[in-house]
Amino acid sequence: MKAIRVHAFGGNDALSLDDLPDPTAGEGEVLVRARAAGVNPVDWKIVRGYLAQFLPHVLPFVPGWDLAGEVVARGHGARRFQVGDRVYGYVRRPTVDHGTYAELQAVPECYLAAMPAKASFVEAAAMPLVFLTSLQALRAAGVAAGQRVLVLGASGGTGAAAIEIARALGADVAGVASDKNHAFVRGLGASAAYGYAGATEAGLPGVPAGAFDVICDCVGGGTLEASRPALREGGHVVSITTRESPPFAGLGDRYHYVFVEPSSRQLKELARWFDEGRIAAHVGPTFPLARAAEAHAESESQHTRGKIVITIE
Ligand SMILES: NC(=O)c1ccc[n+]([C@@H]2O[C@H](COP(=O)([O-])OP(=O)(O)OC[C@H]3O[C@@H](n4cnc5c(N)ncnc54)[C@H](OP(=O)(O)O)[C@@H]3O)[C@@H](O)[C@H]2O)c1
Repeated sequence: MKAIRVHAFGGNDALSLDDLPDPTAGEGEVLVRARAAGVNPVDWKIVRGYLAQFLPHVLPFVPGWDLAGEVVARGHGARRFQVGDRVYGYVRRPTVDHGTYAELQAVPECYLAAMPAKASFVEAAAMPLVFLTSLQALRAAGVAAGQRVLVLGASGGTGAAAIEIARALGADVAGVASDKNHAFVRGLGASAAYGYAGATEAGLPGVPAGAFDVICDCVGGGTLEASRPALREGGHVVSITTRESPPFAGLGDRYHYVFVEPSSRQLKELARWFDEGRIAAHVGPTFPLARAAEAHAESESQHTRGKIVITIE
Protein backbone atom coordinates (compact mmCIF):
# COMPACT_ATOMS: atom_id res chain seq x y z
CA MET A 1 0.00 0.00 0.00
CA LYS A 2 0.97 3.63 -0.42
CA ALA A 3 1.47 5.90 2.56
CA ILE A 4 3.07 9.24 3.29
CA ARG A 5 6.02 8.87 5.63
CA VAL A 6 8.36 11.23 7.42
CA HIS A 7 11.88 9.83 7.80
CA ALA A 8 13.33 12.90 9.51
CA PHE A 9 11.71 16.07 10.84
CA GLY A 10 11.70 18.89 8.31
CA GLY A 11 9.70 21.03 5.92
CA ASN A 12 7.06 19.85 3.49
CA ASP A 13 9.67 18.01 1.40
CA ALA A 14 9.99 15.63 4.37
CA LEU A 15 6.69 14.05 3.27
CA SER A 16 7.59 11.07 1.13
CA LEU A 17 5.20 8.76 -0.74
CA ASP A 18 6.37 5.25 0.21
CA ASP A 19 5.30 1.66 -0.50
CA LEU A 20 4.66 -0.19 2.73
CA PRO A 21 3.45 -3.73 3.51
CA ASP A 22 -0.33 -3.92 4.00
CA PRO A 23 -1.19 -3.86 7.73
CA THR A 24 -3.46 -6.47 9.32
CA ALA A 25 -6.08 -5.82 11.99
CA GLY A 26 -4.88 -6.81 15.47
CA GLU A 27 -6.93 -7.49 18.57
CA GLY A 28 -9.75 -4.94 18.95
CA GLU A 29 -8.82 -3.31 15.64
CA VAL A 30 -10.50 -2.99 12.27
CA LEU A 31 -8.70 -2.67 8.97
CA VAL A 32 -9.91 0.49 7.23
CA ARG A 33 -9.47 1.29 3.57
CA ALA A 34 -9.01 5.03 3.89
CA ARG A 35 -10.81 7.26 1.41
CA ALA A 36 -9.88 10.65 2.84
CA ALA A 37 -7.76 12.19 5.59
CA GLY A 38 -8.32 15.64 7.08
CA VAL A 39 -5.32 17.96 7.38
CA ASN A 40 -4.88 20.04 10.52
CA PRO A 41 -2.22 22.55 11.61
CA VAL A 42 -0.98 20.00 14.14
CA ASP A 43 0.10 17.74 11.26
CA TRP A 44 2.70 20.14 9.83
CA LYS A 45 3.75 21.10 13.35
CA ILE A 46 4.47 17.41 13.99
CA VAL A 47 6.36 17.01 10.70
CA ARG A 48 8.52 20.01 11.53
CA GLY A 49 9.32 18.48 14.93
CA TYR A 50 7.68 21.30 16.89
CA LEU A 51 5.81 18.82 19.11
CA ALA A 52 8.66 16.32 19.54
CA GLN A 53 9.03 17.23 23.21
CA PHE A 54 5.34 16.76 23.97
CA LEU A 55 4.36 13.69 21.92
CA PRO A 56 6.41 10.50 21.64
CA HIS A 57 7.41 9.87 18.00
CA VAL A 58 8.69 6.82 16.14
CA LEU A 59 10.68 7.69 13.00
CA PRO A 60 9.84 7.04 10.24
CA PHE A 61 6.18 7.79 10.94
CA VAL A 62 2.99 8.22 8.94
CA PRO A 63 1.43 11.61 9.84
CA GLY A 64 -2.28 12.45 10.06
CA TRP A 65 -4.98 12.16 12.73
CA ASP A 66 -8.28 12.48 10.80
CA LEU A 67 -9.71 9.56 8.85
CA ALA A 68 -12.76 8.51 6.82
CA GLY A 69 -12.98 5.17 5.08
CA GLU A 70 -14.51 1.75 4.87
CA VAL A 71 -14.00 -1.28 7.12
CA VAL A 72 -12.50 -4.14 5.09
CA ALA A 73 -11.59 -6.63 7.86
CA ARG A 74 -12.02 -7.15 11.60
CA GLY A 75 -9.39 -8.28 14.06
CA HIS A 76 -9.94 -10.62 16.99
CA GLY A 77 -12.55 -9.28 19.39
CA ALA A 78 -13.51 -6.33 17.18
CA ARG A 79 -17.31 -6.25 17.33
CA ARG A 80 -18.53 -2.69 16.91
CA PHE A 81 -18.31 -2.55 13.11
CA GLN A 82 -19.07 -4.82 10.17
CA VAL A 83 -17.08 -5.21 6.98
CA GLY A 84 -18.42 -2.53 4.62
CA ASP A 85 -19.26 0.01 7.35
CA ARG A 86 -18.25 3.57 6.56
CA VAL A 87 -16.38 4.97 9.55
CA TYR A 88 -14.63 8.16 10.59
CA GLY A 89 -12.32 9.04 13.44
CA TYR A 90 -9.86 11.30 15.20
CA VAL A 91 -7.08 8.75 15.54
CA ARG A 92 -4.65 10.36 17.95
CA ARG A 93 -2.72 7.39 19.26
CA PRO A 94 -0.40 7.62 22.26
CA THR A 95 2.60 7.68 19.91
CA VAL A 96 3.07 9.46 16.57
CA ASP A 97 3.68 6.37 14.46
CA HIS A 98 0.86 4.97 12.30
CA GLY A 99 -1.11 8.04 11.17
CA THR A 100 -3.96 8.41 8.71
CA TYR A 101 -2.13 9.43 5.48
CA ALA A 102 -2.17 5.81 4.29
CA GLU A 103 -4.34 3.66 2.03
CA LEU A 104 -4.87 0.94 4.65
CA GLN A 105 -4.92 1.38 8.39
CA ALA A 106 -5.38 -0.99 11.32
CA VAL A 107 -7.27 1.18 13.80
CA PRO A 108 -8.46 0.40 17.34
CA GLU A 109 -12.27 0.54 17.23
CA CYS A 110 -12.39 2.95 20.16
CA TYR A 111 -11.28 5.82 17.89
CA LEU A 112 -14.03 5.28 15.33
CA ALA A 113 -17.73 5.90 14.82
CA ALA A 114 -20.08 5.32 11.92
CA MET A 115 -19.81 8.21 9.46
CA PRO A 116 -22.81 10.49 9.04
CA ALA A 117 -25.00 8.63 6.55
CA LYS A 118 -25.43 11.77 4.45
CA ALA A 119 -21.73 12.74 4.35
CA SER A 120 -19.24 12.03 1.59
CA PHE A 121 -15.90 10.56 2.64
CA VAL A 122 -14.30 13.97 2.09
CA GLU A 123 -16.87 15.72 4.31
CA ALA A 124 -16.50 13.04 6.99
CA ALA A 125 -12.70 13.33 6.96
CA ALA A 126 -13.05 17.09 7.39
CA MET A 127 -14.98 16.67 10.62
CA PRO A 128 -13.44 14.67 13.48
CA LEU A 129 -10.64 16.78 14.92
CA VAL A 130 -12.19 20.21 14.38
CA PHE A 131 -15.72 19.27 15.44
CA LEU A 132 -14.55 17.37 18.52
CA THR A 133 -12.33 20.34 19.43
CA SER A 134 -15.12 22.85 19.09
CA LEU A 135 -17.70 20.68 20.83
CA GLN A 136 -15.37 20.05 23.76
CA ALA A 137 -14.39 23.73 23.90
CA LEU A 138 -17.94 25.08 23.85
CA ARG A 139 -19.04 22.54 26.46
CA ALA A 140 -16.07 23.46 28.68
CA ALA A 141 -17.30 27.06 28.56
CA GLY A 142 -20.85 25.93 29.36
CA VAL A 143 -22.42 27.39 26.21
CA ALA A 144 -26.21 27.24 26.46
CA ALA A 145 -29.19 28.25 24.33
CA GLY A 146 -29.73 31.98 24.15
CA GLN A 147 -26.14 32.93 24.97
CA ARG A 148 -24.02 35.15 22.75
CA VAL A 149 -20.75 33.57 21.59
CA LEU A 150 -17.85 35.27 19.79
CA VAL A 151 -15.62 32.92 17.76
CA LEU A 152 -12.09 34.16 16.97
CA GLY A 153 -10.57 32.67 13.79
CA ALA A 154 -14.06 31.99 12.50
CA SER A 155 -13.19 31.12 8.90
CA GLY A 156 -10.74 28.28 9.63
CA GLY A 157 -11.37 24.62 10.35
CA THR A 158 -12.02 24.87 14.08
CA GLY A 159 -13.66 28.29 13.88
CA ALA A 160 -16.19 27.25 11.26
CA ALA A 161 -16.97 24.14 13.31
CA ALA A 162 -17.37 26.29 16.43
CA ILE A 163 -19.94 28.49 14.68
CA GLU A 164 -21.84 25.42 13.51
CA ILE A 165 -21.87 23.85 16.96
CA ALA A 166 -22.65 27.05 18.87
CA ARG A 167 -25.70 27.47 16.64
CA ALA A 168 -26.67 23.83 17.14
CA LEU A 169 -26.51 24.46 20.90
CA GLY A 170 -28.96 27.34 20.43
CA ALA A 171 -26.50 30.21 20.89
CA ASP A 172 -26.35 33.43 18.89
CA VAL A 173 -22.86 33.51 17.39
CA ALA A 174 -20.60 36.15 15.85
CA GLY A 175 -17.25 35.54 14.16
CA VAL A 176 -13.91 37.34 13.82
CA ALA A 177 -12.09 36.75 10.53
CA SER A 178 -10.36 38.73 7.79
CA ASP A 179 -12.70 41.00 5.84
CA LYS A 180 -12.62 38.80 2.73
CA ASN A 181 -14.14 35.96 4.77
CA HIS A 182 -17.04 37.84 6.34
CA ALA A 183 -19.59 36.61 3.80
CA PHE A 184 -18.38 33.04 4.41
CA VAL A 185 -18.70 33.49 8.18
CA ARG A 186 -22.23 34.89 7.86
CA GLY A 187 -23.05 32.01 5.53
CA LEU A 188 -22.16 29.62 8.36
CA GLY A 189 -24.96 31.19 10.38
CA ALA A 190 -23.12 33.92 12.29
CA SER A 191 -25.33 36.92 13.00
CA ALA A 192 -22.32 39.24 12.70
CA ALA A 193 -18.76 39.16 11.36
CA TYR A 194 -15.94 41.43 12.48
CA GLY A 195 -12.38 42.02 11.29
CA TYR A 196 -9.18 41.89 13.30
CA ALA A 197 -7.01 44.42 11.44
CA GLY A 198 -6.40 47.36 13.77
CA ALA A 199 -7.05 45.31 16.92
CA THR A 200 -5.67 46.97 20.07
CA GLU A 201 -6.03 46.38 23.79
CA ALA A 202 -9.03 48.71 23.56
CA GLY A 203 -10.76 46.01 21.53
CA LEU A 204 -11.45 44.49 18.15
CA PRO A 205 -12.77 47.04 15.66
CA GLY A 206 -16.57 47.21 15.68
CA VAL A 207 -17.04 44.51 18.33
CA PRO A 208 -19.41 45.78 21.03
CA ALA A 209 -17.98 45.90 24.56
CA GLY A 210 -19.36 43.52 27.17
CA ALA A 211 -21.66 41.85 24.65
CA PHE A 212 -20.56 38.20 24.75
CA ASP A 213 -21.19 35.48 27.31
CA VAL A 214 -18.46 33.29 25.81
CA ILE A 215 -15.39 33.97 23.69
CA CYS A 216 -14.18 30.88 21.85
CA ASP A 217 -10.61 31.43 20.71
CA CYS A 218 -9.32 29.50 17.69
CA VAL A 219 -6.42 31.80 16.81
CA GLY A 220 -4.65 33.24 19.88
CA GLY A 221 -2.09 36.08 19.87
CA GLY A 222 -3.15 39.70 19.55
CA THR A 223 -6.66 38.79 18.39
CA LEU A 224 -7.33 36.89 21.62
CA GLU A 225 -5.88 39.68 23.75
CA ALA A 226 -7.89 42.34 21.91
CA SER A 227 -11.11 40.42 22.49
CA ARG A 228 -11.02 41.07 26.26
CA PRO A 229 -13.38 44.09 26.25
CA ALA A 230 -16.01 42.06 24.35
CA LEU A 231 -16.54 39.69 27.29
CA ARG A 232 -19.43 40.47 29.56
CA GLU A 233 -18.97 40.54 33.33
CA GLY A 234 -18.94 36.92 34.56
CA GLY A 235 -18.47 35.48 31.06
CA HIS A 236 -16.25 32.54 30.05
CA VAL A 237 -13.33 32.30 27.64
CA VAL A 238 -12.24 29.05 26.07
CA SER A 239 -9.04 28.85 24.05
CA ILE A 240 -7.66 26.02 21.97
CA THR A 241 -4.40 27.90 21.34
CA THR A 242 -3.32 29.60 24.56
CA ARG A 243 -3.07 28.12 28.06
CA GLU A 244 -2.82 31.50 29.77
CA SER A 245 -3.45 34.98 28.41
CA PRO A 246 -2.50 38.03 30.53
CA PRO A 247 -5.61 40.15 29.83
CA PHE A 248 -7.77 37.28 31.13
CA ALA A 249 -5.68 36.54 34.23
CA GLY A 250 -8.47 37.68 36.56
CA LEU A 251 -10.99 35.20 35.16
CA GLY A 252 -9.73 32.27 37.25
CA ASP A 253 -11.70 29.14 36.40
CA ARG A 254 -13.79 31.01 33.84
CA TYR A 255 -10.78 30.80 31.49
CA HIS A 256 -10.53 27.34 29.92
CA TYR A 257 -7.86 25.76 27.74
CA VAL A 258 -8.92 22.69 25.78
CA PHE A 259 -6.77 20.12 24.03
CA VAL A 260 -9.02 17.83 22.03
CA GLU A 261 -9.53 14.24 23.22
CA PRO A 262 -10.63 11.39 20.95
CA SER A 263 -14.26 10.43 21.58
CA SER A 264 -16.18 7.82 19.66
CA ARG A 265 -19.31 8.77 21.62
CA GLN A 266 -19.10 12.43 20.59
CA LEU A 267 -18.39 11.45 16.96
CA LYS A 268 -21.67 9.51 17.04
CA GLU A 269 -23.45 12.57 18.38
CA LEU A 270 -21.89 14.77 15.68
CA ALA A 271 -22.86 12.29 12.96
CA ARG A 272 -26.46 12.47 14.14
CA TRP A 273 -26.39 16.29 14.14
CA PHE A 274 -24.93 16.23 10.61
CA ASP A 275 -27.65 13.90 9.34
CA GLU A 276 -30.32 16.05 11.01
CA GLY A 277 -28.95 19.09 9.17
CA ARG A 278 -27.94 20.84 12.40
CA ILE A 279 -24.27 21.09 11.42
CA ALA A 280 -22.42 21.02 8.09
CA ALA A 281 -18.82 20.32 7.09
CA HIS A 282 -17.02 23.03 5.15
CA VAL A 283 -14.44 21.54 2.85
CA GLY A 284 -11.76 23.83 1.42
CA PRO A 285 -8.95 22.70 -0.89
CA THR A 286 -8.47 18.96 -1.49
CA PHE A 287 -5.28 17.18 -2.62
CA PRO A 288 -4.55 13.57 -3.59
CA LEU A 289 -2.31 11.56 -1.23
CA ALA A 290 0.75 11.99 -3.46
CA ARG A 291 0.41 15.78 -3.05
CA ALA A 292 0.30 15.81 0.75
CA ALA A 293 3.18 18.31 0.78
CA GLU A 294 0.97 20.87 -1.00
CA ALA A 295 -1.80 20.24 1.52
CA HIS A 296 0.63 20.99 4.33
CA ALA A 297 1.90 24.13 2.57
CA GLU A 298 -1.70 25.31 2.29
CA SER A 299 -2.30 24.65 6.01
CA GLU A 300 0.90 26.52 6.91
CA SER A 301 -0.49 29.63 5.20
CA GLN A 302 -2.85 29.85 8.23
CA HIS A 303 -5.44 31.53 6.03
CA THR A 304 -7.32 28.58 4.59
CA ARG A 305 -11.08 28.91 4.36
CA GLY A 306 -12.71 25.66 5.54
CA LYS A 307 -10.95 22.30 5.88
CA ILE A 308 -8.09 20.93 3.82
CA VAL A 309 -8.62 17.27 2.94
CA ILE A 310 -6.35 14.64 1.35
CA THR A 311 -8.24 12.25 -0.90
CA ILE A 312 -7.14 8.61 -1.05
CA GLU A 313 -8.26 6.42 -3.97
N1 LIG B 1 -6.12 22.65 21.40
C1 LIG B 1 -6.59 21.85 20.45
O1 LIG B 1 -7.08 20.76 20.73
C2 LIG B 1 -6.56 22.30 19.00
C3 LIG B 1 -7.32 21.61 18.07
C4 LIG B 1 -7.33 22.06 16.74
C5 LIG B 1 -6.57 23.18 16.38
N2 LIG B 1 -5.81 23.79 17.32
C6 LIG B 1 -5.01 24.99 16.97
O2 LIG B 1 -5.95 26.02 16.68
C7 LIG B 1 -5.46 26.85 15.64
C8 LIG B 1 -6.50 26.94 14.52
O3 LIG B 1 -6.66 25.66 13.93
P1 LIG B 1 -7.54 25.52 12.61
O4 LIG B 1 -7.59 24.09 12.27
O5 LIG B 1 -8.81 26.26 12.75
O6 LIG B 1 -6.60 26.30 11.57
P2 LIG B 1 -6.93 26.83 10.10
O7 LIG B 1 -8.00 26.00 9.49
O8 LIG B 1 -5.61 26.96 9.43
O9 LIG B 1 -7.56 28.27 10.33
C9 LIG B 1 -6.81 29.33 10.75
C10 LIG B 1 -7.72 30.57 10.65
O10 LIG B 1 -7.12 31.58 11.43
C11 LIG B 1 -7.51 32.81 10.87
N3 LIG B 1 -6.54 33.82 11.26
C12 LIG B 1 -5.22 33.88 10.93
N4 LIG B 1 -4.66 34.92 11.55
C13 LIG B 1 -5.66 35.52 12.30
C14 LIG B 1 -5.72 36.61 13.20
N5 LIG B 1 -4.63 37.35 13.47
N6 LIG B 1 -6.90 36.91 13.82
C15 LIG B 1 -8.02 36.16 13.55
N7 LIG B 1 -8.02 35.11 12.71
C16 LIG B 1 -6.85 34.80 12.10
C17 LIG B 1 -7.57 32.59 9.40
O11 LIG B 1 -8.66 33.35 8.93
P3 LIG B 1 -8.50 34.57 7.92
O12 LIG B 1 -7.88 33.99 6.66
O13 LIG B 1 -9.90 35.05 7.75
O14 LIG B 1 -7.57 35.55 8.58
C18 LIG B 1 -7.85 31.10 9.24
O15 LIG B 1 -9.15 30.89 8.74
C19 LIG B 1 -4.11 26.26 15.22
O16 LIG B 1 -3.09 26.92 15.94
C20 LIG B 1 -4.19 24.82 15.70
O17 LIG B 1 -2.95 24.22 15.93
C21 LIG B 1 -5.79 23.40 18.63
